[in-house]
Amino acid sequence: MSDAIEAHMDETRRVAPPAEFAKHARIHDRSLHDEAEADFTGFWMKRALEEITWTKEPTVSLNDANPPFYKWFEDGELNLTYNCLDRHVEAGGGDKVAYTWIGEPGDERVITYRELLADVERAANALKDLGVGKGDRVAIYLGMVPELPISMLACARIGAIHSVVFGGFAASALADRIQDASCKLVITGDGAWRRGQIIPLKDIVDEAVAMCPTIENVLVVRRTEQDVAWTDNDIWWHDALAAAAPNCPPEPMNAEDVLFMLYTSGTTAKPKGIVHTSGGYLLGAILSHQWVFDIRPDDVYWCTADCGWVTGHTYVVYGPLANHTTGIIYEGTPAHPTWERHWEIVHKHKVTIYYTAPTAIRALIKAGPEAVEKYDVSSLRLLGTVGEPINPEAWIWYHEHVGGERCPIVDTWWQTETGSIVLSPLPGLSTTKPGSAIGPLPGMKPVIVDEQGAEVATGDGGYLTLQRPWPSMLRTIWGDDQRFVDTYWNRFGNTVYFTGDGARTDHDGDIWLLGRVDDVINVAGHRISTTEIESSLVGHPAVAEAAAIGAEDPIKGEMIAAFVILRDGIDQSEELRADLAGHVATDIGKFAKPSLLLFAPDLPKTRSGKIMRRLLKNIAEGKELGDATTLRDPAIIQTIKADADRQMGR
Ligand code: WTA
Repeated sequence: MSDAIEAHMDETRRVAPPAEFAKHARIHDRSLHDEAEADFTGFWMKRALEEITWTKEPTVSLNDANPPFYKWFEDGELNLTYNCLDRHVEAGGGDKVAYTWIGEPGDERVITYRELLADVERAANALKDLGVGKGDRVAIYLGMVPELPISMLACARIGAIHSVVFGGFAASALADRIQDASCKLVITGDGAWRRGQIIPLKDIVDEAVAMCPTIENVLVVRRTEQDVAWTDNDIWWHDALAAAAPNCPPEPMNAEDVLFMLYTSGTTAKPKGIVHTSGGYLLGAILSHQWVFDIRPDDVYWCTADCGWVTGHTYVVYGPLANHTTGIIYEGTPAHPTWERHWEIVHKHKVTIYYTAPTAIRALIKAGPEAVEKYDVSSLRLLGTVGEPINPEAWIWYHEHVGGERCPIVDTWWQTETGSIVLSPLPGLSTTKPGSAIGPLPGMKPVIVDEQGAEVATGDGGYLTLQRPWPSMLRTIWGDDQRFVDTYWNRFGNTVYFTGDGARTDHDGDIWLLGRVDDVINVAGHRISTTEIESSLVGHPAVAEAAAIGAEDPIKGEMIAAFVILRDGIDQSEELRADLAGHVATDIGKFAKPSLLLFAPDLPKTRSGKIMRRLLKNIAEGKELGDATTLRDPAIIQTIKADADRQMGR
């Protein structure tokens, strides 16, 4: 556990749900929890029939005959896009705004549900014209433009499986993901705006596609007017849509058909394609979005996540659209053109719900309260955070300066694997504590256990597990059932899902997350495996051995620190240091670039040969090194520590 997190846990500071909020909240008692505890499969079945429009209603809730390969609503049939679009239009809600999209340069596009449906139908036909059909995989590599959700929905319309790859990934990382899923098509852009610069998406795709023989075509959205190289297999999005027929009926899908896969980092260098299916995932998205965000018809809801991550899937696209919500999508980062951008958008569009990452909040704090005070943000009624632990200082600042002490804050804990929020306060019900994710949503069963799998005592730290299946749970890792079993279901038995996070409960039974307990680090809310960084570094000709760790960072939560042993005959230099960090950026993506790169004559290992990661972390953080008597060569670390302190200006 991080010492900083431990020191921050303050169970005494409590914020009761604001009375005005609680009065109108969707959930103000525990009756849903109670109902789910009494009969969880019946609870989910009832909700599945109420919330989803099925082409064939399911008759079974959970099939748990073959754990951990659970199935939900397995004889049901539905189409996600019918639930997200058509049913609202048919009910007379076609003129409601689905998205107000704001481009980084300041251009805007307002898209109603009717217009979104029309675009999705044409895009779906364009995919069909390119030979994409049910079960085919489509990679989507775009900035946050409307065509990103439209592409996802177009796939879902015809039963193709989307694999969105975050636009910050480098060509080889994109190629790995395309190859793993044998994608047929890539949807990309001529470029993407990022902090006033253009990211050359198409060039990156061309480089990746050269390594991917399964790709037949590249569909290219015009966004930046950037000149791009062109081949016979490239098609402009606007040409393809113009040539496509306007109507495309939704393909009925089995509830257990794959909706999408999304790659995330595990403890090995190879990323895992997390598989989500149609029925259970949609139910999780719909209900958690309603419960946690207390959604009302007139809300203007803004989840700032990129669709390249799971938060963008569940809380920009599927949950909000299925709930007929009006959403904001902003193309750029919160820093561009200035740190006022988010508050300007909240003010102008009268945003009522704002959901972002702690990293963004910490960066916004750094910009000073003036940045938010210049704008009228009194339209806000609810705030949320996701992706990493929030430190109490950031929580309190968010509460006071953004929420005006009137908005509840929902600190939502979940994972790519869980599909939807698992732990969160309920805004009209829960007394919140800065830094605690409070407790489970109805139906979920978190249990904190020790090494042997026994529940720990109140106040003790342990491993967070989920001990009951839930509809939006991952079904497998693409193409690798064994890895799915080994990663999540082996540690404590095949009915206990291991999250990879540490946690503890306080004396009120509220849950506090303590960070990852595996080799995954969380940089600015992005999951990266230390092994991925290490294998990139040893792929460089100058490197013999490497160790990467996550070290505390005041803004990003964690930063990457890498320790490198050079091959014999290679001299360390500042150029090489920059070259190695740049190598990781070109291999994986800029967000994975080490903030601190240290040359080490040897890596500190115990006498039994284990790298002392704890010690490396202390070096990177400038902390006391403590007892190093078990080291093979204690002198080594003094040299590395001196270099770290110099690099970090200590
Ligand atoms: C971390 C993002 C503390 C956690 C939705 C988890 C959090 C990983 C929180 C999943 C939170 C997410 N408090 N930690 N509220 N939310 N995490 O798959 O370590 O990108 O395992 O999903 O982020 O990251 P992922």
